[in-house]
Amino acid sequence: MLDALQRLPDDPILGLAAICREDSNPNKVDLTVGIYMDESGVCPVFQAIQQAQRTLVEEETTKAYLPPAGDADFNRGMRALVFGGDSDALAAGRVSSIQAPGGCGALRIGAEVAYAAKPDARVWISDPTWPVHLPLIGSVGLEFSKYRYYDAVSHGVDFDGMVEDLKQAGKDDLVLLHGCCHNPCGADLSLDQWQVIADMAEHQGFIPFIDIAYQGLGSGLDEDAAGLRLLASRLPEMIVAASCSKNMGLYRERTGCAMFLCESADNADAILSQAKVAARRLYSMPPAHGAILAGKVLSDEQLGRIWREELLAMCERINGLRSQLVDSLQASTGRDFDFIRRENGMFSFLGLSEANVRQLREEHSVYMLGSSRINVAGVNASNIDYLSKAIAAVL
Ligand code: LMR
Repeated sequence: MLDALQRLPDDPILGLAAICREDSNPNKVDLTVGIYMDESGVCPVFQAIQQAQRTLVEEETTKAYLPPAGDADFNRGMRALVFGGDSDALAAGRVSSIQAPGGCGALRIGAEVAYAAKPDARVWISDPTWPVHLPLIGSVGLEFSKYRYYDAVSHGVDFDGMVEDLKQAGKDDLVLLHGCCHNPCGADLSLDQWQVIADMAEHQGFIPFIDIAYQGLGSGLDEDAAGLRLLASRLPEMIVAASCSKNMGLYRERTGCAMFLCESADNADAILSQAKVAARRLYSMPPAHGAILAGKVLSDEQLGRIWREELLAMCERINGLRSQLVDSLQASTGRDFDFIRRENGMFSFLGLSEANVRQLREEHSVYMLGSSRINVAGVNASNIDYLSKAIAAVL
């Protein structure tokens, strides 16, 4: 039976990263997977996480399962981190949450609950979006429609196109929005634009489904959640998938959280029961290690302060790299790359053709996705000149 199955192509992001790993060119530049890398090209462990881990190793007395909704400190901390400590919805008990295996697990749980509520709800996704949204959410059984989002000519959000397309979103459809640091384009909505989306959701009755995987890496923890919080202050319902992969560096620990803003505390409790049943059906219990560490960081004042400082330094470094890259690219190509400065988080499209991207890979060992999405955090002082000159050479 199994011999009837064909080999499938590698994942476009992870497969490319594997090819890059095999490349023996000492000058290779890896701009593939969205992983924060420091000046020496290493994805570091946060000091706050190291400290929490030391305490955990000393104190841990059991490896028994976590409860189905996961670690309580983690859930409480994540709800406050995302919705804001002063959120009225939180105070009213209108937000329930469940720990999930990474942001992916959270997206999946969110989709499972949405499907249980309305199997024929459409999910509106930005064009483009993170490619894994499709299999993760689509395999639940929900159908997709696309809304215009990124305008490759102006290198910014096509907000008129987005609004025009979303006018067709019906009551109880889900509109998948990137909370900040849009993956793959880095172009985010302004607060005024979030306001328009809130008006539309109120008027049309669609439900925002927010993927917030990069909170703290755009402008700051509160700034990056401002759009989401604005929606939460005005709408009765919302689904959120949050991740600690990037902003706590817990990538391999699969630490995420699905959150449900509901009309009442009773509804939030009912939805949590649905989420727990979905989790039990999929993987039973969440992984403990990363969430316990994140829970310690979020509940301990001193660890929390250390973490916030580390995260802010990362965020500032990425924004500094954006500026340096613009200057370096403009100097070597004579073209305008200023849009990279206006974008947020780890990703931007360089606006190169697929042929340019292939040539960069084959002739210069510079690796980026076929769409010319780069991970800005893969740039550093020792590769920026090489990278800019290679781009100039293929242009
Ligand atoms: C990315 O887009 O590179 C990251 O979100 C990692 C992944 O799983 O694709």
